[in-house]
Amino acid sequence: MKTVLSGIQPSGKIHLGNYLGATKQHIEMQKEHNCIYFIADLHALTTIRNAEAMKKNTIEIAMAYIALGLDTNKTIFFKQSEVSEHSELCWIFDCITPMPFIERAHAWKDAKAKGKKDPTVGLFNYPILQAADILLYKPDLVPVGQDQKQHIEMTRDIAQNFNNTFGETFKLPDPYIKDEVATVPGTDGQKMSKSYGNTIDIFESESVIKKQVMSIVTSSIPVEDPKDPKSCNVFKLYKLLATPEETKEMEDKYISGGYGYGDAKKELLNKILEHFKQAREKYSELESKENLVMEILNSGSTKAKVIAKEHLKEIKSKIGYL
Ligand code: ADP
Ligand code: TRP
Repeated sequence: MKTVLSGIQPSGKIHLGNYLGATKQHIEMQKEHNCIYFIADLHALTTIRNAEAMKKNTIEIAMAYIALGLDTNKTIFFKQSEVSEHSELCWIFDCITPMPFIERAHAWKDAKAKGKKDPTVGLFNYPILQAADILLYKPDLVPVGQDQKQHIEMTRDIAQNFNNTFGETFKLPDPYIKDEVATVPGTDGQKMSKSYGNTIDIFESESVIKKQVMSIVTSSIPVEDPKDPKSCNVFKLYKLLATPEETKEMEDKYISGGYGYGDAKKELLNKILEHFKQAREKYSELESKENLVMEILNSGSTKAKVIAKEHLKEIKSKIGYL
């Protein structure tokens, strides 16, 4: 049994890319491992500057995880901002991490390359806080999407640097990235992402999901003609949810012709609604039980704090604070 840890940005209702790239693995890993998951609301302050939005996004992501099957009796699930040890350890890492090391972070480089106005110290420091989040709990595995790989590499380097400076303290965690869902395509074929407006939102109303699925970009090959499934976004998404037999069936229909993109979209829509039926029902139930969701997060914080406190004590004694 391993210790598994991951942080989830409170970005509101999750989309299919978030689910397949991250949440699904988080939920599955509960069966075999000790899991610790938190809502990364400290990181979110680099982008969200509105109390209402912070609260709403946090509660929505918590409801999504619980609705999708998070076992909150077994798994520790909490809000990052409730466990102050994350920020404390971040400062410690700040003081031993050279600036040029962090300057190579993708998110920071992107912000600069795009000429982002007044990028904040928090954005610059983002990978260090992430390293603190992770190392505080000594996990073996960190399940994330492909785009987070660099942050895990940086975390390992920061751990190694601390170990070299103050003696063996941290074990180096491994990223856990599922290859076949490394990048889920959005409705326009680019990576599915809120920032591209190309998402399929699994907890939105049926009519919104339908609109999103119908907007998937396809080629203009006529219905009668054979089509290449592998280059089609509808098929790519269907494959991620369907069984191998169902996938083969759709593949054959593409290849033999007489099967239009509209038909494939309908099948994909039905598959999405069927796949998330139970979770969507549970989600609407939770919408009227906000207090229960908050209680779950609070009890998670209490459990997380016990572990975080103990590890931070060990770290502080290595530095000479205790
Ligand atoms: P977004 O790009 O929509 O803002 P986030 O950056 O908040 O999504 O991602 C949250 C989690 O979901 C991360 O672990 C990320 O790697 C994963 N993820 C997001 N989009 C995708 C995608 N299109 N394919 C695979 N995983 C994804
Ligand atoms: N940066 C991650 C994301 O955008 C969220 C995150 C914060 C995280 N702290 C973490 C992920 C620690 C894994 C481990 O998705």
